[in-house]
Amino acid sequence: MPLLEVRNLTKYFGGLAAVDDLSFDVREGEILGLIGPNGAGKTTVFNCISGVFSPTSGKVFFNDEDVTGLKPNKIAQRGISRTFQITYLFDAFPAIANVLAACHMRAKAGVWRTFFNTPRYRQQEAEIMQQAMDLLKLLGLAEIALENTGGLPHGHKRGLGVAVALATQPKLLMLDEPVTGMNPEEVRVQMDRLSKIRDELGVTLVVVEHNMRAVMGICDRIVALNFGKQIAEGRPEEIRENPDIIEAYLGSQEDYAT
Ligand SMILES: Nc1ncnc2c1ncn2[C@@H]1O[C@H](COP(=O)(O)OP(=O)(O)OP(=O)(O)O)[C@@H](O)[C@H]1O
Ligand SMILES: [Mg+2]
Repeated sequence: MPLLEVRNLTKYFGGLAAVDDLSFDVREGEILGLIGPNGAGKTTVFNCISGVFSPTSGKVFFNDEDVTGLKPNKIAQRGISRTFQITYLFDAFPAIANVLAACHMRAKAGVWRTFFNTPRYRQQEAEIMQQAMDLLKLLGLAEIALENTGGLPHGHKRGLGVAVALATQPKLLMLDEPVTGMNPEEVRVQMDRLSKIRDELGVTLVVVEHNMRAVMGICDRIVALNFGKQIAEGRPEEIRENPDIIEAYLGSQEDYAT
């Protein structure tokens, strides 16, 4: 049984089918790439799965349960998390505060416990701090934990965005362009982070990315979209040679060099 099943997913914006009768599976433990030229519908797919949009039609099953159209907080509670094409962080706070805030959303300490600062509350706070620190360590960000978020280099900010998404302890993490705007060294570091997330935390990943070298290097399998429809599916080496994909990218501004 796949971890995530997308069935005949369709999303219209006015008369435009941004996602058009799309079906694909995500298997537990894999890293699946979702690629396609600008405007192909990749982010809309993420938005429909994560509850930002309700699909016009079609279904999404997670762990064999119908999660179609659930609100984002309910989707997160089920175990699906995502990052955004643009990283949203609290710039005025230390880096770790971003992760702590996300951990707190999951922990939800009761008002009673918080107000009276009970031993259980203090223990929970200590656990959350440990959890946030462990996440930063895993992602190689421990040394910037106390640095001001706004002043961090782009690569660290994108890494921190991933840490925030992991704070809800998801089973499935969807990443929207995790290496965009990064220099080659930052790309390498970020790809290492993603491998670790799968290998050490056992989290299944779906990665939307235009950087083909990165996608081909990390993904077990790739689904390619154009105009909201699937145009190919296969292993990276199959996708690289696929004439439909090469054609879809021809004339676009993107770097399809591998
Ligand atoms: N909220 C919205 N309202 C109207 N149209 C939208 C909305 N979001 C996306 N679209 C349109 O849907 C289509 C798919 O957009 P989407 O952002 O999903 O593409 P994408 O594959 O993520 O592209 P990119 O690689 O540039 O991020 C585009 O034509 C876009 O203009
Ligand atoms: Mg997008």
